[in-house]
Amino acid sequence: MKRVVQILIIAIVVIGGLVDGAPSDTTRTLLKDKINNVPSSAIYGLEDTYGNTMDCAKIIQTFDTDVTKRYVAVYHYPWGGNYKVGIAKSSNLTTWQQTSLLEFGSSQANIMRLSDGRYLMAWEQTYSSGNRIRLRYFLSLTDLLADHSDDWIEISIPSWVESGKAIGTPNIYTITGYSGNIYSSVLYVGAHYGSSNHDRQTSFKVTNFNKNQVEWLRNPNTYWPSIEDSVLYWLIPQQTSSSDGPGNVGGRDSFAYNGYQFALIEGNPWGTGTDSEDFKHWQSFLYDRQTLNSDKLQLVTSCGATSYANPHVTLLNDPNNVFVILLTFFIPTESVGCDAGTLLYWVPL
Ligand SMILES: *[C@@H]1O[C@H](CO)[C@@H](O)[C@H](O)[C@H]1NC(C)=O
Repeated sequence: MKRVVQILIIAIVVIGGLVDGAPSDTTRTLLKDKINNVPSSAIYGLEDTYGNTMDCAKIIQTFDTDVTKRYVAVYHYPWGGNYKVGIAKSSNLTTWQQTSLLEFGSSQANIMRLSDGRYLMAWEQTYSSGNRIRLRYFLSLTDLLADHSDDWIEISIPSWVESGKAIGTPNIYTITGYSGNIYSSVLYVGAHYGSSNHDRQTSFKVTNFNKNQVEWLRNPNTYWPSIEDSVLYWLIPQQTSSSDGPGNVGGRDSFAYNGYQFALIEGNPWGTGTDSEDFKHWQSFLYDRQTLNSDKLQLVTSCGATSYANPHVTLLNDPNNVFVILLTFFIPTESVGCDAGTLLYWVPL
């Protein structure tokens, strides 16, 4: 009898395991639902107070006592045939006052606040020979807002990248070993690289903020394993022409919730015939570092956007001190429905 009960319990546990799947599944599903249901309070076509578009904005909380600097955004907008990255501050996530600008040809910035209130920024800098990633280190929020960096490095394009192809859309996964000295730390950065087979995923490790101590980690052995494969899983079946690759796997941003690690990442199927058709279908995915799989997001926007790219995500306290997941997506001009621009919204967790 006791043995039968034991077997029954084992059977229930096994079946339960099959139904519930991995431990992170419930959390991932909850996050997916919150991200998909874009609230009516969402801001479309985000702009700073000068009227510059805030393309691909990454927003973080500063914890500064001055409420006018409670949040910082880094973003880019068109400038002289290229782009420039802007830095802006806000007290309420809605009104953004630009405080400085990066160099001509900068775009796709990301920002991280370090444990001691210093900051790291990463972005993509234009080169005719293929864009490269630059990293900047700031000693304080004041320095960040003024773009007065203490040091900066540029990451050389590794030899395995085809000539003329870019490295871009950096995100800062994490920094380890840091206790106030950037020259004694290990930084993990995610990026995409261009290839004749479209954009693919890579990541790299920078030791002691030294451009000569860079180690590349490529798919499937990226810092977040198989993140590229998890997106190709969705893109390959959507491919309409076998003569072309299955599309781009591009920008990403990572976060942790409930003790689990996730990333949002963009991808677009390819081979519909024209670039504009392909760009009409930029999709974003929720990658689960525990299961190494991605779920496809299905954003429900008031204007019915068919395309939402360049996901950025931060968990922070909103202006009412509610803990929220804050998201931005870039809606490209090719999208049907919504006008092009950055979509910003936040949802209580
Ligand atoms: C946000 O703050 C600005 C002042 O910095 C103010 O003009 C604006 O009305 C505020 N917006 C909201 C939605 O609270």
